[in-house]
Amino acid sequence: MGFSAGILGTGACLPEKVMTNFDLEKLVDTSNEWIVERTGIRERRIADPETATSDMCLKAARAALKDAGVKAEELDLIIVATATPDYMFPSTACIVQDKLGAAHAGAFDLAAGCSGFVYGFSVASQMIASGLYQKVLVIGAETLSRIMDWTDRNTCVLFGDGAGAAVVGRVEDGYGVLALELGSKGSGAMELYQPAGGSRRPATHETVDGHGHFIHMNGKEVYKFAARIMPATCKRVLAKAGLTIGDVDMLFPHQANQRIIDNAVKHLKIDPAKVWVNIDKYGNTSAACIPICLTEAQREGRLHKGDNVLVVAFGTGLTWGSMLLKWAK
Ligand code: UT7
Repeated sequence: MGFSAGILGTGACLPEKVMTNFDLEKLVDTSNEWIVERTGIRERRIADPETATSDMCLKAARAALKDAGVKAEELDLIIVATATPDYMFPSTACIVQDKLGAAHAGAFDLAAGCSGFVYGFSVASQMIASGLYQKVLVIGAETLSRIMDWTDRNTCVLFGDGAGAAVVGRVEDGYGVLALELGSKGSGAMELYQPAGGSRRPATHETVDGHGHFIHMNGKEVYKFAARIMPATCKRVLAKAGLTIGDVDMLFPHQANQRIIDNAVKHLKIDPAKVWVNIDKYGNTSAACIPICLTEAQREGRLHKGDNVLVVAFGTGLTWGSMLLKWAK
């Protein structure tokens, strides 16, 4: 590797509107008890009707640039990881590039579901490591409420809206990325997907009437996949970096289900006090989860220069991604 790449600054945007489990009790046949016990979620944020994904990206991006002390004109590239772009095309990243005034940046969206931020960070860090670029903005953002079936209790209780961003750039040698792993299991593609609106099933009256434009999920299968892959990929990145779980100062797991996180904690044998959890407040914000968690932890003074930070995510695809960073800030 040429240059060391790490996170220079973070930022997040969470809509103000809170939707509690009690609000959901009025929409579908569910209960606060069921949702808390089976998922750990108590409330989630919902974007107002005027807000699209790029609007939340912009707020998170501005906060991350400020935190990093980097100007928008310095950015070489903007990557937006999302499953809920403003439009099918152009990319949400291009809309962000314009509104941010990032005059010298390339821009593209990346589709890796809830693993999207880890995928985006991997691309960014390697472009910096190669010397091609100096500053890359990686955003994970979702307005999942727009593709939620508010009549399906199996899915509508799980997700929330939000955005998180990180400025990725050169850091001192020995800091930043220590190891990375990206993976996929496309045989599970139909376990979590939006059936209509793409080239396979373009939008028709029937697809709209049949709820084809909403999230469809086989929760049990995704659960089994997540329970297996999270500890496994964490162990592999630790081994790649020549570290053990005892060396990890903080674990940031994807926030999909408290029970999935607890399972990973048990298998990894990590002290739960070192595991960042905010699923109770925001639910599953997909690609936004990890950068929102990093932002919160940093703002609350829980991340220190030199900390070994382990990040792990999984999602539609199916995909997974994990990375080990030596915190550089
Ligand atoms: O970022 C990746 C995104 N997705 C995930 O990570 C999801 C992974 N999967 C999960 O988190 C869990 O599988 C769920 C939370 C989705 C479901 O939990 P579960 O413990 O696997 O429940 P289940 O699917 O086995 O359902 C048990 C029962 C069912 O009723 P019957 O068939 O036993 O009568 C469901 O219909 O719970 C019912 N149920 C609900 N009841 C009240 C499902 N959703 C609800 C609900 N409220 N919201």
